[in-house]
Amino acid sequence: MSDIESPRQVDDSKLDEMLQAARAILPRAYVPYSGFHVGAALLNEDGAIHSAVNVENASYPLSVCAERNAAAVMVASGHTKILAVAVATNAQTPTPPCGGCRQVLWEFGDADTPVVAEGADGVRERWRLGDLLPHAFGPDDLR
Ligand code: THU
Repeated sequence: MSDIESPRQVDDSKLDEMLQAARAILPRAYVPYSGFHVGAALLNEDGAIHSAVNVENASYPLSVCAERNAAAVMVASGHTKILAVAVATNAQTPTPPCGGCRQVLWEFGDADTPVVAEGADGVRERWRLGDLLPHAFGPDDLR
């Protein structure tokens, strides 16, 4: 990565707003099997926030995580760049995106994309996407 492309800063206030969006949508999670509600919010390059929940299915493997649904919402609204990711749950510890979601987020983000998560009682954690998915396979590898 060149200096020109070096890490964009996302304001803490924007990350707060994203976590609020992820938490606000949390009750809509369709989770009759796990009971584990997840809300995800993605920030795109024009400052818009796209949020979604996990949607489970009676055929369990067809369940889709909140982060992947949020990516679909973002793409459907005409955006393909993720500047930050927020995940809200009611778990005791903040929930990082699962492995499959890390790969999907990588498609639209990069190593410096901040990923913030909030669990029960507002406890928060923050990672870089590149630390969650080191040596990622992505669009550049198909060149
Ligand atoms: N889940 C997500 O929505 N995101 C993740 O990154 C981890 C797991 C969902 C999938 C399933 O509906 C429930 O949480 C329990 O695994």
